[in-house]
Order: sequence, then structure tokens, then C-alpha cells
Amino acid sequence: MICVPDIPRLTERLTQSATQPGVCEALCAEADAIRSQVFGDTVYIRGIIEFSNICRNNCHYCGIRRDNNLVMRYRMNADEIVEVAMTAKRLGCGTVVLQSGEDPSFTAPMLGEIIRRIKNETGLAVTLSIGVRTREELVELKAAGCDRYLLRFETSSETAFSAIHPDCTFAERVACLNDLRELGYQVGSGFMIGLPGATLEQIAQDLVFATQLNLQMIGCGPFLAHPGTPLAGHTTLENRNVYYAVMALLRILNPHAHIPATTAFDALDPNGRDRVMCCGANVFMPNITPAKYRRLYQLYPNKPSVDEDGETSLRRVLERLAALGRKVSAEAGHALTALP
Ligand code: 5AD
Repeated sequence: MICVPDIPRLTERLTQSATQPGVCEALCAEADAIRSQVFGDTVYIRGIIEFSNICRNNCHYCGIRRDNNLVMRYRMNADEIVEVAMTAKRLGCGTVVLQSGEDPSFTAPMLGEIIRRIKNETGLAVTLSIGVRTREELVELKAAGCDRYLLRFETSSETAFSAIHPDCTFAERVACLNDLRELGYQVGSGFMIGLPGATLEQIAQDLVFATQLNLQMIGCGPFLAHPGTPLAGHTTLENRNVYYAVMALLRILNPHAHIPATTAFDALDPNGRDRVMCCGANVFMPNITPAKYRRLYQLYPNKPSVDEDGETSLRRVLERLAALGRKVSAEAGHALTALP
């Protein structure tokens, strides 16, 4: 049993996962059993539409940061976005996730209109992943029918946070998460695993912070250094088991949260997302962005499936899940945990 907040014990588990054979595997088996007990073999499919790579922020890790001049910028228009959502519905997604850089030209009224159209035409659950917005904007987006919101805290160390986020404070992020919760959104957050300088103890603190936020969804993935950013050249963690042990511990600490196998795991290991599905994850998020935009939305290098169209990506995902013996649900997959 791991009690929250038992940072020394979590740190020890992570250390053992990296150094002792069998420890990571045992954690993954424990997490997999919890996932199976709470969610059965059902996997919820959330199709991600990366609708704009324009960003006002200059985060040190992100490939679409404002100062990366090597990226050609794009915005999808409302009709394109709604059309992709309709394809998502046809292909069996229960949710669409609208993700972008922090692009203020998509105002709350514009996004609200897109959400209304998607809800009217598909009935799908809608998740936004568009960075920090004001409380007023969040009120408007909720009124338009938005169900959920993803905003990672990235690291629970305020010092580490401010070192890599020139445009946003940790307190602002957390305040936005609190606004979302108060306004009745299903809230998702999470962190990058293995940011430069992060010790196993820091990662244990991130796990505890994520757990104490009492989230409905928790999304974490490996940090992967992008060549066009100030963090270029940083290597991944020496022992890959740590990434999977973190995901397993997330599930053990948060039995009822929705936990996706995030795309960055496929950039780490060719079968990374399959491994995460076997250590506690119950959600898969296929990229359904039109092929012509995908190469332009690379937050990290080695992003998979950059040449595929949405339909192909989704079919491949369904095959992978079937191979793991998991059943795909076309339901929205709303939060299991009671909203506070
Ligand atoms: N490596 C891994 N994850 C990244 N993200 C952004 N850049 C990187 C990177 N270089 C993640 C952040 C962000 C999410 C949308 O993508 O956690 O919140």
C-alpha cells in the first residue's frame, strides 16, 4: 500500500524500478489489475484535433514555441474543425479534444460557436486543450457546452516551472485549474516525466501533486528534447522503466481517474503506448488532425504517424487495442470520480 503523500516511499519505488529486476513489472501488474477492476477492458477513444500551432508562449521545451521560426504556422478554420469532428463520430470516437498553441485569435465566442456546432452535429463530448484562459472565457466556453479541459502543470516544482515558462507562473496555472474545477469542468492535468534536472524525488512529488489535485483525468508523458528549443540535446532518462513505473504509480494512487496512454510514449518506444495501456491506462487518444497539418504540430521530435490521415490513424489504433484484447467504447467516457 502506498499512502499519499508518502514521497520517500514513492521515491524508493522509483529507484527500485530503475535498479532492481522485476520491480517495475510488479508495479505495472498491480496497476493493470486496478484498471481492470475499475474500468474492465473498455477503452475510451478521444480523437485529438490539433487546430492551430500558433502560440504566444515561449516555453523552453516546446517545438511550437513562439520563437521557433522554423515552424510554418497554420490555423484550421471552423468548418474544417467541425468536419474532422464529424469524421471522428463516424469512426467511433466518443470525445474530440481540440488542442492548440495559446492562440488568442481563437476568441472564446469563436471557440464557443465551434463547440456548439460540434455538439449539435455529433453529440460528442468536447475537451479543450488550449492553455491558460481567463475565468470569463472559461465561463463562456462552459456555457457553449464544453465538457472537459486539459491543462498540465508540467512540474510541481515552482522553481523548475519558472525556469522553463517565461510567460506563465505556476500560480497562474494552478489558479486556472481551480477555476475550471469551480466552473464544473471535468479537469485533466499532469506533468512531463524526466524534465532536465528532475530527480526521482521530484518525480515522486509530481505524482503526489497530481494525486492531490483530485483530477478526473491525468495525462503524463516522457519529456523529449526538441532540437528547435533551448532544451535541445537533453537525453531521456537512463532507465526507461522509470517512465512506466510512473504511469503505474499514477494508476495505483488514482484508481478512478481516466489515464490516457499519451502519444509521446510512442516517440519514446515504438510500442510505448501499448506498454502504457498495460500499466494502468484506460484511454487512447488517436491523432485525427488532417495529414497536411500534422508535421507542423511537433511539440517533441519523432512524433508518430505524421504522414497518416485521421482515418488511417484511428484504424491502426483500433487494431492495436484489439491485439491487446481491449474493447473500444464509442461512449463519451465521462468522469467516474465525483466532482468536488
Ligand atoms: N516533450 C514532451 N512533452 C511535451 N509537451 C510539450 N513539449 C513537449 C516535449 N518536448 C507536452 C506538454 C504540454 C502538452 C500539450 O505537450 O506537457 O502540456
